[in-house]
Amino acid sequence: MTVGNPDALGDLLLQWYDREKRELPWRGDEVSVYMTVVSEFMLQQTQVKTVLPYFDRWLQTFPDFDALANASIEEILKQWEGLGYYQRARNLHKTAQQYVAADAKPVTYDDWLAYPGVGPYMAAAISSIQGGDTQVVVDGNVIRVIARLFADNRVFKDAATAVKVIRPLAQNIMIEARSGDFNQALMELGATVCKKQKPLCLLCPWEKTCKARIQGIESEIPLFKKTKYTERTIHRLYAIEKGKLLLAKSSNGRRLDDIWELPELDGLPSNENPYSTKKRGIGNERITEIIYKSTDDAWLNGTKKAEHQWVPLKKLDKVLLSGPHRKWISSFLASDGDSC
Ligand code: ADE
Repeated sequence: MTVGNPDALGDLLLQWYDREKRELPWRGDEVSVYMTVVSEFMLQQTQVKTVLPYFDRWLQTFPDFDALANASIEEILKQWEGLGYYQRARNLHKTAQQYVAADAKPVTYDDWLAYPGVGPYMAAAISSIQGGDTQVVVDGNVIRVIARLFADNRVFKDAATAVKVIRPLAQNIMIEARSGDFNQALMELGATVCKKQKPLCLLCPWEKTCKARIQGIESEIPLFKKTKYTERTIHRLYAIEKGKLLLAKSSNGRRLDDIWELPELDGLPSNENPYSTKKRGIGNERITEIIYKSTDDAWLNGTKKAEHQWVPLKKLDKVLLSGPHRKWISSFLASDGDSC
């Protein structure tokens, strides 16, 4: 399936990118392989505006692959705190170690695929930006942009199925001589113009050629089978005593290991009302967290487990806390008039 001249589509996109691209610290001629790798790890599942302050701090703390490879995992996780999906930080560490140890440094798409945590999307991004390789990037944003461009209104079973369909269509319009810019332009169009809701078609370089726009269905596609969400409720304890807060290592296995959070409760207090209720989504789970503030010493003593720890509020900055928990704790402390 082709719309008009594929080269013209790619050219229109690049002209738009040259005019409109955001100036970002990981873009430009001076950008090292290390900066590209760090930015791509951070940008997985995370928006540019969230990444920006982390990226700058990261480069000051770990300026190159050597510094990162030699850093401790605790130091690395601490710098990552708040970005979420901590497995990315572990993989970035391992990638730095593998990079430093490699005699032949990775250049191509296939070279990068052999690095920890580097999947097809990241391998395509890094190798096109730094090595001129010509694999197209396909993520949720690119699926949306390309499905609309070609008015592909089938219902995709899931993202992986959509990637298989969209990849050849996107690959077909790539301008290979500028593969890195082309890939970043696709990401940029998806992030800033071809938005999920209310796409800004008047600003789009493909306004006149986009089949979905022509048919007036741009806001309706791409279509995915409805995701089934599972509901979960977690009960937690917020206990403060003599300027110390009770914390537990996260029980959430791989994703959050080594990270501290408010302890989970097995049994509920009979005489306590919930202190606060928080809702959040992680993957396909919709989680309601009900937090109880302990005011009953007897109950607290029966509930507290050996592995829980009292952490002085003054030291809270030094501990690796899950991002949402740090936010909740700060707001509880502020509203209770306790201070760190
Ligand atoms: N998302 C993933 N990679 C990106 C990049 N290089 N620039 C902007 N957003 C991105």
